[in-house]
Amino acid sequence: MALGKRILLGLTGGIAAYKSAQLVRMLVKSGCDVRVVMTESACRFITPVTLQALSGQTVWTDLWDPRIADNMGHIELSRDRELIVVAPASANFMAKVVQGQADDLLTTLCLARDCALMVAPAMNRQMWDNPATQRNVAQLRKDGVLLAGPDSGDQACGETGMGRMLEPEGVFEEIESYFQPKTLSGRKVLITAGPTSEPIDPVRTITNSSSGKMGYAVAQAARQAGAEVTLISGPTALAAPSGVARVDVKTARQMFDAVKKFAAAADIFISVAAVADYHVVNPSAQKVKKGDGKGMTIELAENPDILAYVASLPNAPFCVGFAAETEAVSKHAKEKRARKKIPLLAANLAQQALGADDNEITLFDDAGEHPLGRGAKLDQARKLVSHIATLLQKRKPAA
Ligand code: C5P
Repeated sequence: MALGKRILLGLTGGIAAYKSAQLVRMLVKSGCDVRVVMTESACRFITPVTLQALSGQTVWTDLWDPRIADNMGHIELSRDRELIVVAPASANFMAKVVQGQADDLLTTLCLARDCALMVAPAMNRQMWDNPATQRNVAQLRKDGVLLAGPDSGDQACGETGMGRMLEPEGVFEEIESYFQPKTLSGRKVLITAGPTSEPIDPVRTITNSSSGKMGYAVAQAARQAGAEVTLISGPTALAAPSGVARVDVKTARQMFDAVKKFAAAADIFISVAAVADYHVVNPSAQKVKKGDGKGMTIELAENPDILAYVASLPNAPFCVGFAAETEAVSKHAKEKRARKKIPLLAANLAQQALGADDNEITLFDDAGEHPLGRGAKLDQARKLVSHIATLLQKRKPAA
């Protein structure tokens, strides 16, 4: 689904300005109208021409630009915007916003705005850790300014620590998140995702085909709907969605232990993981050598059913199951929902969903079947989240 919002993107002086070129592309691709404003320092890191080409619009840098109607640049340029995003936001810029200073076009626009302001800080770790910056960050939060990041890791100056700007995907996700309805605000959501992997020996495992994409999309959608999300993930190649706490596990029994830790505090449990049904009874401590043509026998024991366990807890969270079927989806889904005693089950055809970026889910609940149509996994996840929010509100209204 295209985002399609009117954004004012401000750039201040920082080497991370190159990431904003990519951010403009992503926003434009998502149907947004992106108006770019740069400070003088920003223009030393990346040229207005680059951003003009990517946004397809004039880039503004000067408060006294005669092209702005009636010399009212400080109000005109942000008047029709739905969000101002400043990325990269330097320590100096943030200090100026805290003080209410308006000595250039961007700070003036930030002061004279009637939409939200989001900043993506980008600076050296010592600048970030400095008490003055930390005081400013706390004040920005108090003033209702949204913070996207920063991240920790390698910095352009060669040091490692907190203060690097989020990657463009991360800033985009925060922007997207801002515009989502907060239907799960105040709710704690626990999600399992990905496959589990059961060792045969140190180099071989039994696993399920699961990329984890659907579970991660559900985690992202729940977080964007305002929930506090814990994602318990089997081995996948995916990065955790921004703002989601991820717990990594390998085996089904490890997943079970992790779920038990968080289930009691959760309002909602969404079990998307493709949990292996069996584990190897005595995995070998050493690599098993090839035999003499006689084959090999592995003894398997059943894994715990994590979802059924959570659903049977005395104060069980609202439980949602997933079912990937290869045929007779509706019949199997209904049976599974009854067997696991869960209020909601999301089912799809395995051959259409595995590893793909889109999916076609049907929801099953007490009221019957609800086909969600075909679409990107994130869109399907958003529909699922909104359905859960409606059912939960009927049961247990948010405090
Ligand atoms: O039929 P099956 O038991 O595979 O049902 C699938 C649903 O149950 C999924 O939501 C899956 O995450 C969950 N499940 C589980 N623990 C298992 C097997 C499946 O939580 N051991």
